[in-house]
Amino acid sequence: MSDYTANTRVIVVDPHRPDEGDIQSAARVLRAGGLVAFPTETVYGLGANALDETAVGRIFAAKGRPFDDPLIVHIAAKSQVEDVARAIPDIAYALAEKFWPGPLTLVLKKHPRVAEKVSTGLVTVAVRMPAHRVPLALIRAAGVPVAAPSANLFTRPSPTSAAHVADDLSGRVDIILDGGPCPIGLESTVLDLTGPTPAILRPGGTTAEALLECLPDLILPGESAGGRASPGMMLKHYSPKARFFLFTGAPETLASRARVVIGGLLRAGLKVGAMFTEEDAPIFADLPIQLENLGPRSDLDAIGRALFAKMRSLDACGVDIILMRAIQAGGLGLAIRDRLIKAAHQQIIDLDGQPEIIINRLISELSD
Ligand code: TXA
Ligand code: MG
Repeated sequence: MSDYTANTRVIVVDPHRPDEGDIQSAARVLRAGGLVAFPTETVYGLGANALDETAVGRIFAAKGRPFDDPLIVHIAAKSQVEDVARAIPDIAYALAEKFWPGPLTLVLKKHPRVAEKVSTGLVTVAVRMPAHRVPLALIRAAGVPVAAPSANLFTRPSPTSAAHVADDLSGRVDIILDGGPCPIGLESTVLDLTGPTPAILRPGGTTAEALLECLPDLILPGESAGGRASPGMMLKHYSPKARFFLFTGAPETLASRARVVIGGLLRAGLKVGAMFTEEDAPIFADLPIQLENLGPRSDLDAIGRALFAKMRSLDACGVDIILMRAIQAGGLGLAIRDRLIKAAHQQIIDLDGQPEIIINRLISELSD
């Protein structure tokens, strides 16, 4: 895959009232086939003109993204969905009315004018209208729909600040619009409307509970969607550089068992980090490890907002291992749990087992 290199310019913009001149400069870059990273309410996106094959190809080159992982097309008005999709079912309009602008992506039949590379050759296209002034102004000014995946390197945690984007993509993107931290911090919910029954392909910022109110027969992630899946989804890791381990166990003995395991990892000379909710603070008290507090367990909005940023800051400390207690699904918890399980290579460690065996297993998995 050929590389895309650029002199990256960072432009600070007011997330509520971005300067029109700045938006016009970024829009010109998009129209000329360049790449612009921008904030959305979910995570930062890496945008290109969705109608331009060459420009879209640059997104894959910049991210190191596999060519079988399709992109989301961003629009600035509900009616613009007709420019990028065709044979749109009534339910899509009803959902757009209720959830757009917002963190819901609809998979629809693709309009032929959208670049083939956006959908990696599929007959469908993923579309969303973000609830953020910066991309709305940018898409309007560019006058074209904007294809944008999350603005991270492939497999790295999604970026929720402009600094995260610069860490991953400096020298590979023309402009980064810095509109501050993303208010949701987790990607959009991807909902497939092309099959006989609507199916969530990726849980995200719009909860399954909210969708179920409009779609009583909604297929949830993990339930059979007749073989439908989001291409590229299985490859996704959302991983920090450190090996991420999720754990669970009987509540009465969880703290003491976790402390035995962490003690074993420290004796093996490993640098350990942990992300915890306030309720779990006693587990980690006084241990010589790097800690990141996610706030109260009940505040899923705050956990979602902080999750990827905390993974990145623990990485910046150079830890070998990051530990975290699993979060229950429910509301935004479904999306949070999905990202955690992906970061943890699909496994959750039950601390009710033999501590020595668990410690040895964690250490051996570090070299995988
Ligand atoms: O919140 C978000 O969705 C962010 C912001 C920037 O909008 N974008 C984002 O894009 O998370 P990305 O590329 O990291 O994830 C998009 C996922 C793809 O991995 C793919 O699985 C799914 O959406 N997707 C895209 N097009 C699809 C299609 N035609 N059919 C099924 N799934 C699709
Ligand atoms: Mg992504």
